[in-house]
Amino acid sequence: MKNITIAIDGFSSTGKSTVAKRLAKALGYVYVDSGAMYRAVTLYAMQKGFITISSFDKNDLIAHLKDIEIGFEFNEDLGFSEVFLNGKNVEKQIRTLEVSQFVSQIATVSEVRKQMVRQQQKMGANKGVVMDGRDIGTVVFPDAELKLFMTASAEKRAQRRYDELIERGDKVSYEEVLKNVQSRDHIDSTRKDSPLTMAEDAIKIDNSALSLEEQFELVYDLAKTTISKSQ
Ligand code: CDP
Repeated sequence: MKNITIAIDGFSSTGKSTVAKRLAKALGYVYVDSGAMYRAVTLYAMQKGFITISSFDKNDLIAHLKDIEIGFEFNEDLGFSEVFLNGKNVEKQIRTLEVSQFVSQIATVSEVRKQMVRQQQKMGANKGVVMDGRDIGTVVFPDAELKLFMTASAEKRAQRRYDELIERGDKVSYEEVLKNVQSRDHIDSTRKDSPLTMAEDAIKIDNSALSLEEQFELVYDLAKTTISKSQ
């Protein structure tokens, strides 16, 4: 059976990564969370003081890009790959609201994007990959056989992300999560380099009213159909 490339793009907290992870597992494909890579670069920039509430030293970050090594390691117990920054597991640290508050600014930097895209294209070179993000169907894999674009109302997405953060034990308010979702939507959609837009040949899925189960079934059927058409 010939493997294909599946690109899942869309707004934050639309359940992209949950569905992508499950889809990869069901198909025996590799899953790559491209957002985790931008989050790891952000964590690095925060640790080095290149980005704070009041400043962003873009040139310092660019000068240190060569010192940033991002990798994924499959965790058997969790059933998915965790992110490593310069050899250190940062899976939990990169998911905080603090990192979310800086990540979209970091993701506007072309030099950062170039380095991430190069690495993502290498990871998907043999196909058999499900990758989720903002520019996968438009920039990273414009020839992907299946492209999906996920969306849902900002309020619904903020509620989902708020529940996730509270579940982890983070102290956040719904209002600040909603503000972050809206602010990232804006920065991601209006940046010059690789803005978040739907590829012309993508299938749009509004999941405001879909459960994760219904969303998965829909996506799984689309993947199966595309795989059999590609043989
Ligand atoms: O999980 P969530 O939807 O919150 O976002 P993510 O996938 O972890 O991505 C975090 C941020 O990284 C996004 O808001 C974008 O600013 C950036 N990103 C990007 O620019 N390009 C990608 N391919 C993936 C993420």
